[in-house]
Amino acid sequence: MCYSVKSNSNLAVLHLLSQLGSGFDIVSSGELLRVLAAGGNPEKVIFSGVGKTRDEMQLALSHGIACFNVESTSELHRLSAVAVDMQLTASISLRVNPNVDAKTHPYISTGLKENKFGVAIEDALMIYRTAAGLPGIRVVGIDCHIGSQLLDDAPLLEALDKLIELIDVLAAEGIVIHHLDIGGGLGIDYEAEVPVAVGDYLTRLFRKIDLWRAEKYQGVPIKVLFEPGRSIVGNAGVLLTRVEYLKPGSEKNFAIVDAAMNDLMRPAMYQAWHGVQAVVQRGGEAIVWDVVGPVCESGDWLARARTLSLEEGDLLAIHSAGAYGMTMSSNYNTRGRAAEVMVDGNVSHLIRQRETPEQLFALEKILP
Ligand code: LLP
Repeated sequence: MCYSVKSNSNLAVLHLLSQLGSGFDIVSSGELLRVLAAGGNPEKVIFSGVGKTRDEMQLALSHGIACFNVESTSELHRLSAVAVDMQLTASISLRVNPNVDAKTHPYISTGLKENKFGVAIEDALMIYRTAAGLPGIRVVGIDCHIGSQLLDDAPLLEALDKLIELIDVLAAEGIVIHHLDIGGGLGIDYEAEVPVAVGDYLTRLFRKIDLWRAEKYQGVPIKVLFEPGRSIVGNAGVLLTRVEYLKPGSEKNFAIVDAAMNDLMRPAMYQAWHGVQAVVQRGGEAIVWDVVGPVCESGDWLARARTLSLEEGDLLAIHSAGAYGMTMSSNYNTRGRAAEVMVDGNVSHLIRQRETPEQLFALEKILP
């Protein structure tokens, strides 16, 4: 398992997962440095992303990461040249775009031809041939990631079938694939979604793989990698926020809270639904509120039309904020990011301090 660092990259989370034996899926040198700082093993790191820079390649090669998930022919040539310069060989997998509809939000759907990710499956054979001939490259795997927040595993299994077919074609050419990486993407329950049970998905996936290996490879196994993010951390986190003002109106009632779109971007960006619950439930009359932040944007809302019994000063928990919450946060309106707290049973640990305004402009300079 290569946990997708972008979903929640706090060092304490990475450290915990690393101790549990997890590897990591990274998309930048920054994420690699986080993994290393958290004590993660670089030999269990895979590097995804369409825009790896030379510096990022060098850093990853110098730490001996397991694999680069290459997303274009140009990247392949660049990586080979960088590796040769360093007198190293880069292990690679091609991110294949299987042209499967993940049936999720268009912004988080990545496996269709119209998406910028991966190489078209029709071109993969040719690019693998190129890879096999490059001096700085060692072909080790194949990967895909078709999208995020998938509730059904059918598209993932369809993608698997396509990868299996391609591995057979490659094998016939003498290009041996040692690992198959099916990506992440399993969804979670935000509102009332019923995501496929992980165990059921894995059973179906491994049944296919076992049958295939038995039939075509005398049962010789293949290593299977996963890149889950949201399904690991999404529902492990809440965003705590306090009601500053209640502003009832003729059209709408607004509960203005001290968290905003800069803390949790998902509603503004994807019209995402997050549960809202008062930490201490009140008995009073419940009315319909839009829960909004103080940022100067109409898009700054966290939840709409929620029936809640509220008073100013109440603490609210915004649910399912563990994935793509803190990692997508910003300092818009010069708002310091929230503190992060890890709760272990009934013990809580501060794992990131609240940012101070001074820290936010410490790198800036006034002209002399
Ligand atoms: N592997 C690759 C190559 C990815 O691009 C992603 C997510 C993952 C793994 C992890 O996917 P997961 O298991 O978390 O679905 N900001 C959006 C989600 C963007 C996902 C980007 N890629 C959101 O808040 O819904």
